Amino acid sequence: MDFKKSVVYQIYPKSFCDSNGDGFGDLKGVTGKLDYLKELGVDYIWMTPFFVSPQNDNGYDVEDYYSIDPRYGTMEDFEELSREAKKRGIRLMLDMVFNHTSDRHEWFQKALAGDPKYKNFYIFKKGKANGEPPTNWESKFGGNAWKYVEKFDEYYLHLFDVSQPDLNWDNPEVRQELQKVIRFWMGKGVKGFRFDVVNLISKDKYEDDYEGDGRRFYTDGPRIHEYLQELNAATFGTDAEIITVGEMSSTSMENCYRYASEDGKELSMVFSFHHLKVDFVGNEKWVIVPYDFQKLKHILFDWQTHMTEHHAWNAVFWCNHDQPRVVSRFGDEGRYWKESAKMLGTVIHCLRGTPYIYQGEELGMTNPHFDQISQYKDVESLNHFRILQEKGLPESAVYEILKIHSRDNSRTPMQWDGGKYAGFSDAEPWISVNPNHVRINAESEMQDDDSIFRYYQKLIRLRKDYDVVAYGDLEPLDEKHPSVMAYRRTWKDQELLVISNFYGKEVTWDAGRGLDGYTRLLGNYEDSRLSGTKAELRPYEAVVLYKSL
Ligand code: NOJ
Repeated sequence: MDFKKSVVYQIYPKSFCDSNGDGFGDLKGVTGKLDYLKELGVDYIWMTPFFVSPQNDNGYDVEDYYSIDPRYGTMEDFEELSREAKKRGIRLMLDMVFNHTSDRHEWFQKALAGDPKYKNFYIFKKGKANGEPPTNWESKFGGNAWKYVEKFDEYYLHLFDVSQPDLNWDNPEVRQELQKVIRFWMGKGVKGFRFDVVNLISKDKYEDDYEGDGRRFYTDGPRIHEYLQELNAATFGTDAEIITVGEMSSTSMENCYRYASEDGKELSMVFSFHHLKVDFVGNEKWVIVPYDFQKLKHILFDWQTHMTEHHAWNAVFWCNHDQPRVVSRFGDEGRYWKESAKMLGTVIHCLRGTPYIYQGEELGMTNPHFDQISQYKDVESLNHFRILQEKGLPESAVYEILKIHSRDNSRTPMQWDGGKYAGFSDAEPWISVNPNHVRINAESEMQDDDSIFRYYQKLIRLRKDYDVVAYGDLEPLDEKHPSVMAYRRTWKDQELLVISNFYGKEVTWDAGRGLDGYTRLLGNYEDSRLSGTKAELRPYEAVVLYKSL
C-alpha cells in the first residue's frame, strides 16, 4: 500500500473502547470497532503503547516491550486484532518508545542494583561540585531533568517524568536490544512503526544551557542520522511494506529532509510540531494567547514547499493524544462547530503528506473544559497545576490554562453514543466523559449524511480518487490574506484549488484566476458561491475545486 495514498487513524486504546467493563479501554474494544474504521476508510491504525507499563505516562513508560499490559488484554487479543484488521485491509502501526523506558524496566532495576552493564544502558552522571545536578536542563514535564541516586552519588537523566529514565543510545548494546524489539513485532506481522520523540536519542554535550531549557544539547543530536540508518538497515528496512513515522520534537527542517528522505535510508515520514506552537509564547505553552493565524499558514506552507523541494515526506495532522482538540483550538466549537471541524479537516487532508486522524476528530470532538483537578489525570497537567501556582498564578487562572492546553483535552473517552458513558464503557471511565457526548457521537453522525464523519469519509476518498491530492506539488496562494488559507496543488494534468475561511465572518476572496473552469469536488456548505475570479466564503467555509489541465 502506497503510504502517500494512505490515511492513518490514531487510537489511544485507554480511551477508545472498553470491552470488559473496567472503565479502561482495551484491545478487544478496538477489534470490536474495526468495522467502524473500515467504513471511515482508513488504511492504518497507529496504536499508542499497550505494553506492560506502570502507566505513569499512560504507557509511554514501558516496563516490557514484548508483553501486553493485562489492562489492555493478552497477546491472543493482539493477534486477533491484527488478523481482523488485515481481513478489512487495515494495517497496524505500533508505537516504539525508545528514548526512555519505565524505571520499572528490568534494565533499570538492574542498573539501580549496581550492575555496571545495565548502568551503562542509561545516562548516569556525577553532580556539580556545588551539589547541583549535572546540568540545568528541564524535564519536558516540569522541574530539573536529573534525579539523584544516593547509592551511587550520581544522577540519572530523565527528559520526561522521573519514572522515565533516558536510554544511552551511545551504547551499542542498547541499540541492539531495541532492534530485537522491532524484529519481534515484525515477526507478528506489524507493518508500521511510530517512533516516540526519536530525535532526542543522540545526546550531545552535557552542559548547562544559559539560553534555554537544554533542548539544544539533545535535539537532533550528532549521531541521530547514524542511529536511524542503523535501525532501519537492521530491522524495518528489510521489509518494503513497512512504513515508519518519527515523532520529531522541536526539530529543524534541515534534519527532517534527511529523516524523511525519499531515499528511504531513515524513516518514511515525520511529525513536526512547529505549526502547533502558534498559541504558545516561544516554547512556553502554559499561557493564554490567541493563536497566530499568519504564523500557522506560514509554517505549514514552509514545511510543505521545502520538504517537497528536498524530496522528503510529511505526516500531516492537527490532533493527537498530546494536543487539544482542533475544533476547540483553531475552529469554533459553538455556533460553527460543524462547519469549522469540516474546514479544518479539509485543510489537512488536501495538503501534501500522509494525513493522521486522531480518534474522535472525525466526529468533531471538543475539549471537555475540566475545572476540577480531580478530573485531570495527565502527569504533565498535574505537575503544572502545582508549578504554575508556585509561580504565583491563582488557581482559577491555572484552570483556564489547563482547559486550553492540557493533554487530557484529547484523552476523554471516545464518544460512541449518547448513553451514560458515551458507549465507551459500562463502568465509570478512568477519565470523565465529555458531557457533550449526548449531541456529539458516532451513532448519530453515522445516521446523518451531512455529518463531520461523512465529510471525513469523503476527504479520505479524495486522496484515493485523485492523484493530485497525494502527489501534487503545493503552491501557497495569497499567503498574507488575513482570514483565508488557500493553496494550489498540481500533478501531471490535474490541478486542485483548496480555499478555506478560518474565521466566523464572511469574506470575498479573489483567486486571481477565473474559477469557471473548475469543478467543485467538495465543500462544507451545500453549494459554493463563485463568480469570475471571486469566491464568496461564508463562516469557516472550505471548498475544494478541481480542473484537468
Ligand atoms: C511523546 C508522546 O506522544 C507523549 O504522550 C509522551 O508523554 C512523551 N513522548 C514521552 O514518551
